[in-house]
Amino acid sequence: MNRNLETFFKPRSIAVVGASRDSRKIGHAALKNILISDYECDIYPINPKESEILGLKCYKKLTYVPGSIDLVLISVPAAIVPPILKDCVQKNVKNVIIISSGFSEAGNHELENELRRIIEKSNMCVLGPNVMGYKNASDGLDASFVFGVPRKGNLALISQSGALGIGMIYLANNEFVGVSKIIGVGNKIDINDDDLIDYFAQDPETKVIGLYIESVKDGRAFMNSIKACNKPVLVVKAGRSKSGARATASHTGSMAGSDKIYGAAIRQAGGIRCRDIIELFDRARALAGQPPAQGNRIGIITNGGGLGILLTDACEENGLVIPKLSSKTYKKIDEILPDIIKPNNPVDLIGDAGFFRYEATTRVLLEDPDIDGVIVASVHGGYARPREFTGAILKMVREQKLHEEFNKPILATWVGGKEFEDLVWDLKSAGVPIYPSSWRTARSMMALYLEGERIKREKNQKL
Ligand code: COA
Repeated sequence: MNRNLETFFKPRSIAVVGASRDSRKIGHAALKNILISDYECDIYPINPKESEILGLKCYKKLTYVPGSIDLVLISVPAAIVPPILKDCVQKNVKNVIIISSGFSEAGNHELENELRRIIEKSNMCVLGPNVMGYKNASDGLDASFVFGVPRKGNLALISQSGALGIGMIYLANNEFVGVSKIIGVGNKIDINDDDLIDYFAQDPETKVIGLYIESVKDGRAFMNSIKACNKPVLVVKAGRSKSGARATASHTGSMAGSDKIYGAAIRQAGGIRCRDIIELFDRARALAGQPPAQGNRIGIITNGGGLGILLTDACEENGLVIPKLSSKTYKKIDEILPDIIKPNNPVDLIGDAGFFRYEATTRVLLEDPDIDGVIVASVHGGYARPREFTGAILKMVREQKLHEEFNKPILATWVGGKEFEDLVWDLKSAGVPIYPSSWRTARSMMALYLEGERIKREKNQKL
């Protein structure tokens, strides 16, 4: 559905119904988050008993607010949400977020239907009920009641689970994944995943879209939005197992549906299904930081033969190919390696590899027209030098960006301990995707390959 969510994400005026002076209450936290946001807008607390909250003039009723209102956050018990929603209609409010729980997820289907009937007759865009709200990191607005400030970046996150969405804010920060917007959709009585995918497809601050879903309300609209989206869409669909499907029914009051059908439909639409949140973040980091792969032929560089084999297995199990080196590339790498080892793919630089061997081999593989992406790996052996490994990767990634020389993705893998970990943070904070697991690296490279294929399809359709 094509909805205009511009005033939803960038409101000029916000009211909080159920704003409270009591700092333990959700209505207090929501108001405070808006107030301390680095964002200019009019703010109206609404509470029948108060005249002032957090230094702001408080109105007894929404309809008493003098100006127009772009966004209303509702944080009152479920039973009194319908009359508040009617006030929103009367006041010509454009957008509403219903934080309150106690609807279909608690078995109160009739109360939820009542909300639907009120909305049907209006032009409002309504998020929820049973949601945390959203954090718009691109514009500095926090329209949620939860703590946590996301690192600003390019991933737009949509979560059907509130608590998981909140956890994702912290995890994303830990994983150095930058977020443009993060939003909970809860029971989805109006604003749906497809509306948000359509919006984020047009959002200049968003490069990658990630979703945690348990069910979708309108399968066709969801798939059409993914299909039409000009950006990679990563989907974690929960309820894969029989028991998991049962658990979704009691969580958001929704049916998980056949997992196979979901999987096939997401794939057909061009979405990328992820097994869990970490995989979503791994892939988001790769997609936001590296160019897509033009094909599935991968070159692997390592200083430890074992890690090279693990990467080869993981790549092949995920549909990537580790081709034999062409004679030209073989000759070039042979000149770089010490005499005791012969070039192969994976290229084993052996344990004492330093900056030069890493940098020169990476360059040769990037130059090879038969290689579409490179994975550079390092094991922290006794005499290996992690700083030289990370330094070489940083140099090659920077050069690529600067000169757009090869336009091929570079991912990194490492095995080691504390000393290595510090260097890994250097790479992560510079936006270089690096993973402590061959499997995670291969799955991320696969996502870059799938994105390359999606772009090719998009171009062909335009011809
Ligand atoms: N208009 C405006 N404010 C009103 C009101 C009205 N018609 N009627 C009552 N209020 C005020 C209350 O007086 C109270 O303010 P006070 O502290 O000054 O007394 C405030 O609204 C909140 O109402 P209260 O009854 O105290 O509810 P609460 O804050 O304890 O709980 C919810 C309200 C919405 C937080 C709670 O019902 C709920 O749903 N919690 C779960 C939310 C959640 O987890 N959502 C999903 C997240 S992922």
